[in-house]
Amino acid sequence: MTHSVNSIPVITIDGPTASGKGTVAQLVADTLHFHYLDSGALYRLTALSALRQQVALDNEAALAQTASSLRPRFEGGEVYLDGDSVSMAIRAEEVGNTASKIAALPAVRQALVELQLRFREAPGLIADGRDMGTVIFPDACLKVFLTASAEARAQRRYKQLIDKGFSANINDLLKDLNERDARDANRAVAPLKPAEGAYLLDTSNLTVNQAVEQVLGWYAAVKK
Ligand code: DC
Repeated sequence: MTHSVNSIPVITIDGPTASGKGTVAQLVADTLHFHYLDSGALYRLTALSALRQQVALDNEAALAQTASSLRPRFEGGEVYLDGDSVSMAIRAEEVGNTASKIAALPAVRQALVELQLRFREAPGLIADGRDMGTVIFPDACLKVFLTASAEARAQRRYKQLIDKGFSANINDLLKDLNERDARDANRAVAPLKPAEGAYLLDTSNLTVNQAVEQVLGWYAAVKK
């Protein structure tokens, strides 16, 4: 018997930058043995390709073309583009900021829809991003909106960057983070906002494990 793709469960975890949703989403995926979609990585890969190929950042059609010709490979926690590991390169602040800018362009978002839908494979998917519950997987069985205070997020981003060997300044990070939040939340297409029926999870004062347990608890409840 064949099952339609729509019967494959999806849990969406949306939220602002550096909210810790990537870590939580990955651990939930590991626990449930589900696939994991880091949709932000797709916007970052598009940004990285555009920067490398010197595509003008206001040329919407060319950027959409860059997005639709992406052939990323996700393997063992690494991301490869044309055979090269770009896991580190896509985490650089310049790439994140460029990703946030080009993510406001409707043609770029449209060009990435198919690629995102293809991640929905049995036994299930954890989809992490900004519009997973609102636009890409509106039929998800559980939608989580995960956030944390701007200060907690700036601290986390600072630690992440230093741990990865990048230099960072906490005040610059807080400023960039507020700018990026404003851009992601105020854009006309697929703005960052909680999906209807989303469960709100503020992780400012939670450990990673507590956040993971909460999501798993909600999933166990909706699965019944
Ligand atoms: O989650 P992240 O920081 O890796 O995402 C990078 C940028 O990509 C983010 O600032 C906005 C954009 N993005 C988006 O518009 N929609 C998504 N589903 C995921 C990311």
